[in-house]
Amino acid sequence: MTEIESDLKVVAKKFYDLKYNTVSYVRNVGRLWQNFIDVYTIQKWCKEGFLVLDVGCGDGRIALPLSQKFHIIGVDFSRSGIKISVKRAGKSSKTLAFLVADIEHLPFRERIFDLVYSLGTFEYFDKPNKALQEIRRCLKSSGIIIFNVWSEEAIRLGPLYSTLSRIFLSRSKKNRKTPFKIAVYSSSKIRRVIRECGFKIIECRRHYLRSNHIILARTR
Ligand SMILES: C[S@@+](CC[C@H](N)C(=O)[O-])C[C@H]1O[C@@H](n2cnc3c(N)ncnc32)[C@H](O)[C@@H]1O
Repeated sequence: MTEIESDLKVVAKKFYDLKYNTVSYVRNVGRLWQNFIDVYTIQKWCKEGFLVLDVGCGDGRIALPLSQKFHIIGVDFSRSGIKISVKRAGKSSKTLAFLVADIEHLPFRERIFDLVYSLGTFEYFDKPNKALQEIRRCLKSSGIIIFNVWSEEAIRLGPLYSTLSRIFLSRSKKNRKTPFKIAVYSSSKIRRVIRECGFKIIECRRHYLRSNHIILARTR
């Protein structure tokens, strides 16, 4: 979690474009991340007929299985991530679409989604308000948001995180270090931000060695 560049967004975009092109990342970290927040966490809150948005969908890890039951649109600012998602989805899926877009400028009209989830993305925002407000704009009234943020306690897991990165991220020397710091939140800070952005918290709990807050909220 060393700070090399301050503009998190720019660095994150370069990082993911590179990583999705690295087979070892998709295979190894994808598998590791799979156990982190699984598809059932999202599925539990989906109902028949829901239109669901996956923001920061990456390689389609969650959107693909969910699309067997619900209509899903996945967006990510990494072209290589979207390319993998499209390839994995194949031509036949009628319930799934992917497009390149930035969370802070979603290419959708107001109030069309029943549920929006965003996993592993909020660590790249110095100021999460813009992303939350944009998601809120696209959610129907009483629409649901599910997302996670890293907790302040995750900093203590720094050495573990670096070791895992070394093992899983890449075997080439130039990619061994995590190239940017991530944004972390105390429970009170993330609760305050969510409320400020017009959501009512349903649940905000710790997960995965207390390293993350998983947040479930509804538009007010
Ligand atoms: C840790 S990965 C998680 C991918 C996926 N959500 C999952 O759980 O497997 C973070 C993803 O967020 C995307 N991302 C980060 N900031 C973004 C932004 N501002 N707009 C769109 N996508 C973003 C990255 O490109 C990357 O694919």
